[in-house]
Amino acid sequence: MTTLVTTVKESLRYRGKVGQWSWMLHRTAGLGTLLFLILHVIDTSWAAFYPEEYENAIRQYQSPLFTIGEFGLIACVVYHAFNGFRVGILDYKPEWWKHQQRAAIYVFVATIVVLIPTFGLMVNHVIDFYTEEGQDIASLQEIIEVQVQFVLGLVVILVAALVLSALYGLITRSKTGLDLPGWAEKNLWLFMRLSGILILPLVFGHLAMMHVIQGVFDINGGGIDVIGTSAVNDSGKAVEFVGERWDMLVAGVAIWRVYDALLLVLVVVHGMNGLRNVINDYAHAPLINRALNWATIFGMVALVVLGAAALLAGVDETAYQIAKDLTPTAP
Ligand code: HEM
Ligand code: HEM
Repeated sequence: MTTLVTTVKESLRYRGKVGQWSWMLHRTAGLGTLLFLILHVIDTSWAAFYPEEYENAIRQYQSPLFTIGEFGLIACVVYHAFNGFRVGILDYKPEWWKHQQRAAIYVFVATIVVLIPTFGLMVNHVIDFYTEEGQDIASLQEIIEVQVQFVLGLVVILVAALVLSALYGLITRSKTGLDLPGWAEKNLWLFMRLSGILILPLVFGHLAMMHVIQGVFDINGGGIDVIGTSAVNDSGKAVEFVGERWDMLVAGVAIWRVYDALLLVLVVVHGMNGLRNVINDYAHAPLINRALNWATIFGMVALVVLGAAALLAGVDETAYQIAKDLTPTAP
């Protein structure tokens, strides 16, 4: 903990070095995106398993609080992606290190250049939605009620990990945190760079479909084309949007399921291993270090299993009907 406080204090004191700010922003943007991703994989699984909950989750995404968050999320992904790309290239080309500062500035400029038109297009969707009369917008209280459940879930996982770590410490008398063998750390370091490069087109493609070409507001739009398919969302339910995408076949292959599966595995393992790196930088007490590492590894496996289960189960007509019956907005 003291190292975390020192990092923040020293980073604020140590002005003028662009590399320091890049590092802090890269870390914050990665963790911010990961926080969203955890909620998002859980929410998306509801399309397959709890259709009515999925409708409500999408309704919550279409509220002012999430709309502001959506702009922040896009800024985080774009900056983190470009900066991660810079980190990866410079790691392989040490002879270019002398250009580090300039490269970091190029990353800031590229982020702004990409964000200006992206935000412009997103603002159009936002204006269209909020100026239309009769929208059913989730209240702040409803949002808090749902999000508190996620926080409670997290607290339960952390407490369970702490108890297990304490028991493990008592039984084995271990005085260390979770140390992976050198070869594993080396491969994970490589994985962070390679996965970053593979994620880049996947995540940008996903965000272009969900924010720019269409908006989060079109997911439950009745009579609207479902992006990336030849289908129309007849019921105007979010579950039908997901179902049509996951059932879209090209040469017999459900392309969006394959796309989402790749995105899921790469982004969850990359993000959770990134979180593990941050934990190992700040949490040195063996009890806490072990507990947080275990909670992260458990979270990683749980998210991949849940996301994959939803992709395999898919969304069927029964789910469309459940969503239609439970919410009054179907046309
Ligand atoms: C508010 C922003 C976003 C919206 C509205 C959105 C929307 C969706 C939707 C509708 C699906 C269902 C499947 C599909 O239609 O392909 C989905 C799945 C998915 N999204 Fe997003 N997405 C957003 C941001 C992101 C970001 C930033 C990431 C990565 C960091 C991401 C990663 C995923 C993954 C991994 C899946 C598959 C989940 C599973 O297998 O169950 N999404 N997203
Ligand atoms: C879009 C393409 C992406 C690229 C090119 C990329 C690249 C990278 C690289 C190279 C690192 C290692 C940095 C280092 O060791 O100094 C890293 C760390 C990290 N990434 Fe990504 N990443 C991408 C997407 C994501 C996404 C979508 C998430 C969230 C789920 C994420 C979360 C993290 C986290 C939490 C870290 C650890 C940060 C730290 O150690 O300071 N990344 N990323």
